[in-house]
Amino acid sequence: MIIAIANQKGGVGKTTTAINLAAALASKGMKTLLLDLDPQANSSMSFLDIHQLNGSIYDVLTEQGILLSSVLRPAERIANLDIAPSTISLAKIEAKLIGELDSHYRLKDVLQEVVDRYEYIVIDTPPTLGIITVNALVAATHVLIPIQASYFALEGTDDLLETIDKIKQRANPQLQILGALITLYDKRTLLAKDIFDQIQRVFGVKVFKTVITKSVRLEESPAYRESIFTFAPRSTGAYEYYRLSEEVLARV
Ligand SMILES: Nc1ncnc2c1ncn2[C@@H]1O[C@H](COP(=O)(O)OP(=O)(O)OP(=O)(O)O)[C@@H](O)[C@H]1O
Ligand SMILES: [Mg+2]
Repeated sequence: MIIAIANQKGGVGKTTTAINLAAALASKGMKTLLLDLDPQANSSMSFLDIHQLNGSIYDVLTEQGILLSSVLRPAERIANLDIAPSTISLAKIEAKLIGELDSHYRLKDVLQEVVDRYEYIVIDTPPTLGIITVNALVAATHVLIPIQASYFALEGTDDLLETIDKIKQRANPQLQILGALITLYDKRTLLAKDIFDQIQRVFGVKVFKTVITKSVRLEESPAYRESIFTFAPRSTGAYEYYRLSEEVLARV
């Protein structure tokens, strides 16, 4: 199962979800790969010293003959989790791959080498619908869409759903929407219920029952380069991401 975490809207909790879902699955004993496709490399930083790498996913995607296995690293402090690290160079991949006929299939192709080693592969994507996110959606079996519980929550969702449909039509017919995850939820606001209903109208039963509330612990954890499960194991954030992992396991 290959889960792309995608929403071209920035700051909606993609990276936070990728990090903590991958950590939760690994802690359940699932062999898990966290593949970082965001040039900001925040997922990579949470589990690795990114100054000590031999190469990154950028090298694998742009140079023939560099195997994905050669850049994988086991996560620090957590078992069953490997990381395919990103670097800032990924930001220039668009220019590098322009005109290449297989540019949308690069990730799918390089993943073949390692796909059998993992029960779950979680892909963090950048806030665009460009070539990187398209590569993730072509390679994935499922897409998980984090949606920030704000007034403009569904802005841009049409474009994302259209892109998913296009990819399903040809490049990846088996792609499924695993679910929409409501993030940064603040139940004290009057808007919260309205927003929830709005999202439910678009995604129906695909909305995860688990909602990720806004919390200081989740906001702080990346700064300490940890998943929420080691940073604040008794926090609501840890509980919610654990519940999400249970729902993900139940949906496949
Ligand atoms: N539930 C939460 N409660 C509080 N803060 C959160 C929560 N989830 C994420 N954050 C914080 O919000 C910011 C954006 O989250 P994150 O980086 O996960 O979003 P993103 O969608 O990956 O952003 P980008 O589009 O830039 O890649 C980060 O500072 C993160 O620490
Ligand atoms: Mg991110």
